[in-house]
Amino acid sequence: MNNLNINGRDHTVEADPGTPILWVLRDTLGLTGTKFGCGAALCGACTVHLDGQAIRSCITPISAAEGKKISTVEGITDGADRVGAAVHTAWVKHDVAQCGYCQSGQIMSATAFLKSLPRGKQPSAAEIDSAMVGNICRCGTYARIRIAVADAAKTLA
Ligand code: FES
Ligand code: FES
Repeated sequence: MNNLNINGRDHTVEADPGTPILWVLRDTLGLTGTKFGCGAALCGACTVHLDGQAIRSCITPISAAEGKKISTVEGITDGADRVGAAVHTAWVKHDVAQCGYCQSGQIMSATAFLKSLPRGKQPSAAEIDSAMVGNICRCGTYARIRIAVADAAKTLA
């Protein structure tokens, strides 16, 4: 038995401790907002937060989450998280998504990035690109991602 705190709720999950968080989220708990892309920490589609840090859930075992808090795109965009709400709003406003497949990972990385900044700081385009570099978008929505992250930072200032 493994105890996991996900989006503020405690879950007891029966799975091998080495099971990647991604599989438990999607297959056991039905939280399918987090996507499987490469399975090898190369694309960012599976990004979630572990105690506020963006991590790749496809390679992180549930044993690493014991006693920590996991946040997924479902939790970060439910309106209760100030930064997540600003990112979500900016994503909709700038119509960022194309096919949408990579976007939950993009939103999770953007949210972790903005939370890591000193309050009121407006990141440069280069800083945004550097923070988002691990999230691949096959549709090439990078320009809109950059605009939306900058806009969310402005909202939060
Ligand atoms: S699915 Fe995890 S980084 Fe690609
Ligand atoms: S929106 Fe299609 S892969 Fe990013």
